[in-house]
Amino acid sequence: MSAKNPINTSLVTRLLHPMHTVLVSSVGSTGKPNIITIAWVMPTSANPPLLAVSIAPTRHTHTNIEESGEFIVNIPTLEILQAVYACGSLTGRSFDKFKKTNLTPLPGKKVKAPAIRECIAHLECELDGQFITGDHTLFVGKIVEAYADMGVFIDGGYELKKAHLLYHSGGNNFVLMEPKIYKA
Ligand SMILES: Cc1cc2nc3c(=O)[nH]c(=O)nc-3n(C[C@H](O)[C@H](O)[C@H](O)COP(=O)(O)O)c2cc1C
Repeated sequence: MSAKNPINTSLVTRLLHPMHTVLVSSVGSTGKPNIITIAWVMPTSANPPLLAVSIAPTRHTHTNIEESGEFIVNIPTLEILQAVYACGSLTGRSFDKFKKTNLTPLPGKKVKAPAIRECIAHLECELDGQFITGDHTLFVGKIVEAYADMGVFIDGGYELKKAHLLYHSGGNNFVLMEPKIYKA
């Protein structure tokens, strides 16, 4: 192992990457749907099933979630990489990202936000709480409905040879997970 040096504050979060990257769809009071790309997402409770997404107040999605109290976490794959990057580079204040990316909105089953057809799984959430954490807000969502493509979600886990999940490593760089299981 080489020597370990201090890492600049602007780079410390990168020590946690690559991070699994998802698309969060939402709709605000105007009824216009939006998509944001986020890497800061995690489960926080099994029963009740809860997850958290960390979204900056500057994002249009932040406004939508505060207005509607709902959102959907959609799981994208390598096949829609360009759309994932576009949803993380453009704001819904100026762009209709469904039109811009050719992603297809599907009606949510339990929430007003649309799901994204091209994603392999969807976790529909109702807002359960929110906390300001520095320059982001942690929105905790109660998962009220979840569904997945059973061709790639097999025996309770993704078949990584088929489901090319995206991990953000920094900038416009994404990596895939090695589709190999090592037993501990
Ligand atoms: C790979 C990637 C990951 C990102 N992760 C986050 C995140 O976790 N939280 C966040 O607030 N913004 C994140 N962003 C930035 C937003 O996606 C970006 O600012 C987006 O344009 C905001 O869209 P909106 O204004 O339509 O909500 C990420 C961007 C990329 C490309």
